[in-house]
Amino acid sequence: MRENVIDELARDGYILDPEAERFVLAQSNPFNFARGCIDRMEERPLVITMGHLRKVCIIEPDRDARLTEEAATDYDMGPKEYANGDIVVLSDITGMSDCNASVEGFATYFQDRFQTLKGLLQRRRDLVGSTTIDRALDSNRLMVEKSVKIIGMVNEVKDCRSGGDCLDKEDETGKITVMIPKESRLANESILPDEVIGIIGKPISRDKKLRADTLIRPDVPHGSGMERRDLSSVIGFMSDVHVGSNTFLRRQWEEMIDYVRQEAPNIGLEYLVIPGDCVDGIGVYPNQEEELELDDIFDQYHALSELVKDIPDYIHIIVQPGNHDAVRPAEPQPAFSGELAKMFDSSTILLGNPSYFQVEGRTILSYHGKSFDDLMASVKGLSYANPIGAMKEMLKRRHLAPIYGGRTPLAPEKKDFLAIDQVPDIFVTGHVHGAGVDHYNGVRLINASTWQSQTTFQKMHNFNPDPAKLMLVHLGNGLVQVVDFNS
Ligand SMILES: [Fe+2]
Ligand SMILES: [Fe+2]
Repeated sequence: MRENVIDELARDGYILDPEAERFVLAQSNPFNFARGCIDRMEERPLVITMGHLRKVCIIEPDRDARLTEEAATDYDMGPKEYANGDIVVLSDITGMSDCNASVEGFATYFQDRFQTLKGLLQRRRDLVGSTTIDRALDSNRLMVEKSVKIIGMVNEVKDCRSGGDCLDKEDETGKITVMIPKESRLANESILPDEVIGIIGKPISRDKKLRADTLIRPDVPHGSGMERRDLSSVIGFMSDVHVGSNTFLRRQWEEMIDYVRQEAPNIGLEYLVIPGDCVDGIGVYPNQEEELELDDIFDQYHALSELVKDIPDYIHIIVQPGNHDAVRPAEPQPAFSGELAKMFDSSTILLGNPSYFQVEGRTILSYHGKSFDDLMASVKGLSYANPIGAMKEMLKRRHLAPIYGGRTPLAPEKKDFLAIDQVPDIFVTGHVHGAGVDHYNGVRLINASTWQSQTTFQKMHNFNPDPAKLMLVHLGNGLVQVVDFNS
């Protein structure tokens, strides 16, 4: 475990010099300590030295170093190791929220989003030599440069007077208009406001604009994801249980539990993840009360905790909230707390939405998927029947909720927990009540199924769910099995 810490940090882009490496490894929990320090650094240095560490932690002889400020205790609520250390939470808002719901707060949030995604774009070979917008607009360069590369956040996408689209792009140095002529192959791209993209284009000195030739998204490198490892465990995904609704599929759920009880030891099933909409909630959509079997939120969670208790204790269960659950609706959402948390026993791990966690060293990004509602409406070619397509769009943009101001409320946290800042081995979502499996550049994609049949609301919108499927992924070879409980 200790030897893996340096590799793990390097994989996240953090390199320690030899002195800092020795110091970090001497701490009782090196990984958590290092991540705690890095999260507190104002700048992310390329090589972390003792000088950087001293700014964010207190070093006393013969004692573990402590993080500075009262945040030292805060951090204990961040990354945690559970059980035998096989589950490590890498990123989760729970206990870490420092959002500031003001104009300044949103400005800070978007700056963090920009810096994170810009960092990913700068690592791309095709954007080596990119310049800032103020330099791209320099009069001397505009006259002579044949092509410039810039990275910026899209402010607005509008129609150009000359036809095609015009993007207003911004970075920390200035703003520029990028033209996408209607005959360009880029004209078919769905470029979203607040997306962070790279553009290679030709400067037009007359009106200080750029004509785009190439659009580059941060994306996931080819060949990412799971290489074979000597692991035999299996992880299962099942979403959108919607306990409390009269459309909850009790018979199929019970058959699934019977399967888990009988087969888990044979197939090595040791982990189960429920990525949100655990209960149906109250007042989530118009006239919901007419379809509720349990109209008290505590009764709904109590019923859920009883259902979960039927799962054998040796299976670790990870439970996250979704848009029907009783936590703040703004994302990132923290884990269930207080009375709700007390209902679950110690084999259940309550995490926020989204969360990054590692299971036996495999990195899993689990997000409920509320932002599908915005993506389906804004990205050409997407539909609710194809949630996997929307997941690929998230990975290309390296963001779980690229659209702000639509149907996905976002909390202005100082750090953007919705940025896909590490490439996961497995990316799982729920929300659309579909069931999909695919892969993208090596990342396993799972849209976990639901345990609710068609609601009146879905019938009105002509949506047919694909319920009662348990998705199983082998952690050693990445193979996926879908067990169907509909028959
Ligand atoms: Fe749902
Ligand atoms: Fe949902």
